[in-house]
Amino acid sequence: NECVLGIDVGGTSIKAGLFTTDGKLVDVTKIPTGALVGEEAFSRVTEGLHGLVENCGREDGDVVAVGLDVPGPVDDQGRVGMLPNIQLDPEGLMAALAAKFPDSALAFVNDANAAALGELWQGSGKGFGSFVMVTLGTGVGGGVIVNGRLVSGAFGAGGEIGHITVEPNETLSCGCGRKGCLEQYASAKGLVRMYREQCAHLGLEAAKIEHATDTISVFEAYKAQDPAAVRAVGDMCDKLGLALAQISCVIDPAAYLIGGGVAGAFDLFGESLSTAFRSHCLATSAGAKILPCSLGNKAGMYGVAYAALQQRRVRA
Ligand code: BGC
Ligand code: NA
Ligand code: ZN
Repeated sequence: NECVLGIDVGGTSIKAGLFTTDGKLVDVTKIPTGALVGEEAFSRVTEGLHGLVENCGREDGDVVAVGLDVPGPVDDQGRVGMLPNIQLDPEGLMAALAAKFPDSALAFVNDANAAALGELWQGSGKGFGSFVMVTLGTGVGGGVIVNGRLVSGAFGAGGEIGHITVEPNETLSCGCGRKGCLEQYASAKGLVRMYREQCAHLGLEAAKIEHATDTISVFEAYKAQDPAAVRAVGDMCDKLGLALAQISCVIDPAAYLIGGGVAGAFDLFGESLSTAFRSHCLATSAGAKILPCSLGNKAGMYGVAYAALQQRRVRA
């Protein structure tokens, strides 16, 4: 009855999956979270996990490995460099998990790196020796796989593509403390902001602006050829395409796999993104594919479960 937990920490909730040790997803639970700080918040998480384990007909002692990912860079020592979009005490959460599952192997990774590992293990990444996972959600994340291996860098910031500068003269600050980062144009919040700015710029009614609070409404407007949405989505694609073209100069991956909540609208913006990428990249890299990832919003969960299983092998 041995099993593995994959815990994916997002901006508003935690998604956790229970996997068999040969990598089959048995069941998933979503644990709503506010700030993940303090014992009370941590026990909400461990209780949610306990519920998942029980629902799957297992006991806590059957959990042989636990993987946790967080939305910030994590180095080889498990130190978190920054958390631009979330209030979280990662050491506290890891300690709570270690106390709840004392005999389990623990893995701790960046969320987008986890998504890349998930796609490499059981998604469309299997088909590519070198690819870059791109997650467009609350933040913008990246996971770099070169020749079948994750590249996390000397400080854990390898693949921090959300903080590639795409607008050096920008005045608006990013969660990382710098200005002009890709994340401010290609995250969910960034896209909504750009849409509202375009509405104001084009003098569209305030009612419309009030209506646009999430990317779903922006993409609805885009489908209806709303001029502000056309500009905002166009700007997102151009900035993202520019960033991917820079990445190609360093990594030259065979594919970019697009995930995260915003990727739900890939059908609507994928072509513009490919066009933007091709207009910016070296001709040599123009064959790189830009595809939606295949595990959707479960990619991170799969990846941390995989990392946890590897951790268990290292320990054994
Ligand atoms: C963080 C990354 C993370 C991404 C997606 C960015 O703001 O710096 O570490 O992968 O958001 O959550
Ligand atoms: Na990353
Ligand atoms: Zn930034």
